Amino acid sequence: MMTEDRLFIFDTTLRDGEQVPGCQLNTVEKIEVAKALEELGVDVIEAGFPVSSPGDFNSVIEISKAVTWPTICALTRAVEKDIEVAAESLKFAKNKRIHTGIGTSDFHIKHKFNSTREEIIERAVRAVKYARRFVEDVEFYAEDAGRTDNEFLARVIEAVIAAGATVVNIPDTTGYCLPQAYGEKIRFLKENVSNIDRAIISTHCHNDLGMATANTMSGVVNGARQVEVTINGIGERAGNTALEEVVMILKSHNLGIDTNINTRKIAGVSRMVSSLMNMPVQANKAIVGRNAFAHSSGIHQDGVLKNTNTYEIIDPKEVGIDDSSIVLTARSGRAALKHRLEALGVKLQEEGLNKVYEKFLNLADKKKDITDDDVLLLAGADRTLDHHIKLDYLQVTSGVGVRSVASIGLNISGEKFEAAASGNGPVDAAIRALKKIIEREMTLKEFTIQAINKGSDDMGKVHMQVEHAGQMYYGFGANTDIVAASVEAYIDCINKF
Ligand code: KIV
Ligand code: ZN
Repeated sequence: MMTEDRLFIFDTTLRDGEQVPGCQLNTVEKIEVAKALEELGVDVIEAGFPVSSPGDFNSVIEISKAVTWPTICALTRAVEKDIEVAAESLKFAKNKRIHTGIGTSDFHIKHKFNSTREEIIERAVRAVKYARRFVEDVEFYAEDAGRTDNEFLARVIEAVIAAGATVVNIPDTTGYCLPQAYGEKIRFLKENVSNIDRAIISTHCHNDLGMATANTMSGVVNGARQVEVTINGIGERAGNTALEEVVMILKSHNLGIDTNINTRKIAGVSRMVSSLMNMPVQANKAIVGRNAFAHSSGIHQDGVLKNTNTYEIIDPKEVGIDDSSIVLTARSGRAALKHRLEALGVKLQEEGLNKVYEKFLNLADKKKDITDDDVLLLAGADRTLDHHIKLDYLQVTSGVGVRSVASIGLNISGEKFEAAASGNGPVDAAIRALKKIIEREMTLKEFTIQAINKGSDDMGKVHMQVEHAGQMYYGFGANTDIVAASVEAYIDCINKF
């Protein structure tokens, strides 16, 4: 029997993933995600970049306390202060790693550091040695390795391994590489770095050209044994490699490489991250998209009904999608709702559950089929309870050939305010009324309305970006009334100012 090689899963949802503008999580939410990642079976959780903000520092501390067996990793630049702060933030972690590094491409050396190749090697070595004073497990990243000359990269990697690096990360920071070239880079290091057997090679790919997963797999096939990934592939710009894609590729193809991931938890964690970060998953996203297992054409449906293998390469149950799920209706009880929420990765205490249940009954009165997305939105809406500005009521009249008029009531920290305004359409009228109460300089920059499923009784999801004092704020609202959802999203932005 062939022995399986172990691939380590390094999840950076809470660091690289969390850099998405408008998707920042608070510490409590980060702990929730970290615990879900632990249950999922990831080996390493990159919990933050501690020197970047007190919030990040605190999150690494709290995640270290909350999580038991995965290694907790903190990011730094090749700077002593960063490394000291990272070591301090990791003091409660049972297994800890410092992730330090520096740019190695000529672009970075010249334009970012105004330095030379020799000096970069010295700084890299110094950082790794310094980090080793605090922890035994030190990962080194060669930023922009994707565009770094292979010969020079090999020299850097050999030097940092000699200095004590246990893992060497080869990021394609700009998402530029072709899969073959990225794989060859990993192979080149395996064959040309004399001490490479003393470290694990890690991939870290970005999706700017849609090749993150292909590049990661090419790295793995050529000898990398750690992959840096995020749930749903979230991350800056076009995102990072998606955890679920790499894991399911390895499960579907017999490459003799295995991970510790419990794939049945994938759908739950995916939804949890999407809902906490207000970051919708595209419907046709591989593995976790709403349509990933939906067969709509007659020929496919016929084939799947005869034998699922005709058109399905993965059983949806293997990634935690249970198609025999209980149908929720206005007659469903709290237990059914709780069961559904837990299957979707949301755990609520009794008080929280009661509140969501009340909203659920309201919605079920208006809408026949309550879907998983509806349920998640109801649970998500609960997070607005601690907002200091809340929508009390909204009344809008609109139609063809008339100007829309809106009156609005807000509750601001317990005090009631009312205003009315007319506008170009119902949303315009409602926002003008709102602006009469909240007289701040603010401009609506992005505004998308999306139906969740189908049917005129469906919930509408609204994503908005509002600019205030030179900063962009992201807001989200969901309601069967799209004007109300829009106002909720606007208020969500304002609550973040
Ligand atoms: O993309 C990148 O190069 C990174 C490093 C900081 C690891 O995220
Ligand atoms: Zn990155």
